[in-house]
Amino acid sequence: MKILYAPDYESLSRKAAMLIGAQILQKPCSVLGLATGSTPIGAYRYLSQWHAAGDLDFSQARSINLDEYCGLPDSHPQSYHYFMRQHLFDHVNFAASDLPEGCAEDLQAECRRYEQIISAYGPIDLQLLGIGHNGHIGFNEPSDHFVAQTHLVRLKEQTIQANARFFDDPGQVPRQAITMGIAAILQAKKVLLLAGEGKEEILRQALTGPITPQVPASILQLHPDVTVVTTAKEMSCSR
Ligand code: F6R
Repeated sequence: MKILYAPDYESLSRKAAMLIGAQILQKPCSVLGLATGSTPIGAYRYLSQWHAAGDLDFSQARSINLDEYCGLPDSHPQSYHYFMRQHLFDHVNFAASDLPEGCAEDLQAECRRYEQIISAYGPIDLQLLGIGHNGHIGFNEPSDHFVAQTHLVRLKEQTIQANARFFDDPGQVPRQAITMGIAAILQAKKVLLLAGEGKEEILRQALTGPITPQVPASILQLHPDVTVVTTAKEMSCSR
């Protein structure tokens, strides 16, 4: 596992974008696993700028997002479809991009459909991840077991509260989401985990504590090619 220290958010964003950009330069037809949340926004801004400058071409690449809320239409400003268009897809030229459909009539069937997409185009070449305050990756919430496949998840109260900052009314935060499971994340050829301010303690637990579904990100200790970019100085070393 490589742990890269970034002194501030801009540096974290640039380093993350450089690693994603290098992936696209080295393998233009990469499958990128993408995340939402506040952490990757800066990296997406750099990728958009480098594409506009002619340095990065995503036309042979495709993306597969980690997750989507249930019940928010794609046009809702807090849906992850909207987020991805706003921060990345409207600015770069992916050949194709997939996210789970959180408004599908049959959510279980949608989980199966998404799993088929992952099987058809995977394994993911580079999976970008943030980490929740409770150690979730994607919306794989703390639990007594890991869930391998794409699944429907009831969001934990801590996650609902953390995400309430994006909604006018905290009561509007969806209680359910569809998330990629742990298997697709572990099968990704490379994982790039971003952890900014406020994530120091959970990052330490995830990377140095026991591997447990109570801290879903701890499973990354088993992955052979993880790069972490973090503003947590005490974590910066390679092992
Ligand atoms: C989002 C996702 C989540 C976030 C995590 C951190 O697609 O999968 O796991 O990465 O909740 O969110 P931020 O970056 O907002 O702290």
